[in-house]
Amino acid sequence: MASVPLLEAQNLAVRYPNGELALHDVSFQIQSPSFMAIIGPNGSGKSTLVKTFLGLIKPFRGSIKVNGYDSLKQSGKIRKIVRYVPQRDRIELTVPMKVKDIVLMGRLLKKLPPRFTSSKDIRIAKDALEQVDMVDLWDRPFPELSGGQRQRVLVARALASEGSILVLDEPLAGTDVESQDLIVDVLGKYHKENDVSIVMVTHDLNPIHTLVEDVLLLKNTVIGLGEPCSIMDPELMKKVYGPTARIVEHSGHRYCMTRDSGIDRHD
Ligand SMILES: Nc1ncnc2c1ncn2[C@@H]1O[C@H](COP(=O)(O)OP(=O)(O)OP(=O)(O)O)[C@@H](O)[C@H]1O
Ligand SMILES: [Mg+2]
Repeated sequence: MASVPLLEAQNLAVRYPNGELALHDVSFQIQSPSFMAIIGPNGSGKSTLVKTFLGLIKPFRGSIKVNGYDSLKQSGKIRKIVRYVPQRDRIELTVPMKVKDIVLMGRLLKKLPPRFTSSKDIRIAKDALEQVDMVDLWDRPFPELSGGQRQRVLVARALASEGSILVLDEPLAGTDVESQDLIVDVLGKYHKENDVSIVMVTHDLNPIHTLVEDVLLLKNTVIGLGEPCSIMDPELMKKVYGPTARIVEHSGHRYCMTRDSGIDRHD
């Protein structure tokens, strides 16, 4: 018997209260487990898709399921199995939480009240921070951290949490190459060693294309779905990123150059 798909959308449309149709006619299926990427330019509906399958936004039409659970009717079940790292610029920074609180929150949120921190929680939180090389910042106020450091801490929070699906909305945005490599390595290893699916929203497929198994290319609807090489197709990329998008091949891999990815700055 085939396993339940990781994600299954049927004729999904999402409209914001101001009338903006962010997604339309979205139908696709991703098998489980997977390390998948959702890519597309600004405003293409990537974050909207994520928020919809997490049950934070209601579909206007159609449906989307996560591990067989309907986002509208079973969002409580979905929240139990998903660990979510929202897009960085949407995170509230006014609360003076320390790094340790941020990471421990990942564990506490999945517990039933009363929620107490155990020594096991602390061990797991420290271990997760160690993986992203941030354990020295344990007692530092989170809002004081640089953008890249915060991003690593949020990845650690997701690692320390529990649930069979890890969802990260642009974890590489605003990070330097060293942080990108570290985050990508940690996630790739985590996916291989644990039975955890990863759904990662990214602008730029290049840093992760050797790791991901499925790529969903969006521009308010599904433009392409497949393995990275089939999505790194000049025609598809031009359709989404405009006529300046190019594909280059190097060491058996295809790389996409768009103004978006920052590689092709001279074009
Ligand atoms: N809360 C909202 N109210 C109204 N429109 C919204 C809202 N959030 C997003 N949109 C619109 O929906 C469309 C899709 O936005 P979304 O944030 O999903 O794009 P995205 O692909 O994640 O973009 P980015 O790469 O910039 O993060 C955009 O046109 C955006 O303006
Ligand atoms: Mg977004």
